[in-house]
Amino acid sequence: MSRVKSHPMRGGNAFKLGVFGANADGCLSITNHADRWMADWDDVVAAAQMADRAGLDFFLPLARWKGFGGDTNARHISYETFTFAAALAGLTEQIALFSTVHTLIVPPVYAAKALATVDHASHGRAGLNIVCGWNQPEFDMFGLTKPDQVYDQGKEWFEILTRTLEGGAPFDYKGDYFDLKGVSGAPGSVQDPHPVTLSAAFSPPGRDFAASACDCIFTTFNTHEDARETIADFRARVEKADSNAGVFAPVHVVCRPTTQEAEDYYTAYAVTETDNAAVDQHMAMKKSMSGSHDPKAYDLYRKRFAGGAGTYPLIGTPEQIADEMIALHDLGFGGLALSFVNPKYELPYFLDRVLPLLKKAGIRT
Ligand SMILES: Cc1cc2nc3c(=O)[nH]c(=O)nc-3n(C[C@H](O)[C@H](O)[C@H](O)COP(=O)(O)O)c2cc1C
Repeated sequence: MSRVKSHPMRGGNAFKLGVFGANADGCLSITNHADRWMADWDDVVAAAQMADRAGLDFFLPLARWKGFGGDTNARHISYETFTFAAALAGLTEQIALFSTVHTLIVPPVYAAKALATVDHASHGRAGLNIVCGWNQPEFDMFGLTKPDQVYDQGKEWFEILTRTLEGGAPFDYKGDYFDLKGVSGAPGSVQDPHPVTLSAAFSPPGRDFAASACDCIFTTFNTHEDARETIADFRARVEKADSNAGVFAPVHVVCRPTTQEAEDYYTAYAVTETDNAAVDQHMAMKKSMSGSHDPKAYDLYRKRFAGGAGTYPLIGTPEQIADEMIALHDLGFGGLALSFVNPKYELPYFLDRVLPLLKKAGIRT
């Protein structure tokens, strides 16, 4: 494998694109449709290699430990994300390989060691998506209770992680949440000072955490208007934190030769053939335990929760999708994480038809 000269998430394309959620059944969708993604390992590898060869910037898994019930028990299948990234490191060449990690579940010293391992195995392509988490039934699997101030715990976790990734002399750490002795982490990461970081969050404390600690916030929006407000709010926090953090968002994509075909497929998998009981449970649990969406999303956008876990939809022809992406870039997004019903089936057309339009628009090379 060639040595990667620069990380795809640093420099490179002005507007970054990656695949999101391929480590779990359905990716972000909740459906009974025959095309439903089952996260079969060979399909995952095929999708990752397609994305890598086409020059997409990143491959990003979600972190899930339990399904959402219903006929499909959506998301009951998912691969652990450090080992996922490590396995893909040997099977891809250029693409950034993220791991998505719960700060409450994975100890920071273990996370640092695992992330450094992926960074070495991929010659500097590792990335970390930090999720402070929300899903108490998942925490119950580990005998854990979510603390009230989850981002205070997250800040300590992050400080320990980054110090461990330096791979230097052993250090002690004493905070409100961690009391650690003689922490060492050689060989540390290849990337200096540490691998690229996202923080998946929406709330004001989540935004402050991302602005002060991470390279990017990974956040949701309902409309362009909402996105404009969220980006302005986040930029004010970035300025206050004297950082340079950018904004990424997840979207779900159906790209077809005609608008009608795209809309018909969207309605088929996200309405007619959705798994309604799993959508109900997913929405109810998120509404009561997670601040990851603007509360009005639950009343207005059920189809989006079935279609892509409440993310923004990009449904249409290659031209319509490219235009939307250009508009989102112009609003201030640095990149999008794309979810498809079935990445192996959907990626070829998307890569072939949408990427050249983005190149022509000058936002990707
Ligand atoms: C774009 C996005 C992606 C997320 N991905 C995950 C995930 O993969 N696993 C998870 O448990 N939580 C995920 N979350 C939830 C966050 O970890 C967090 O618990 C939630 O957003 C509540 O925090 P907040 O109040 O800062 O938004 C995600 C949130 C966002 C906004």
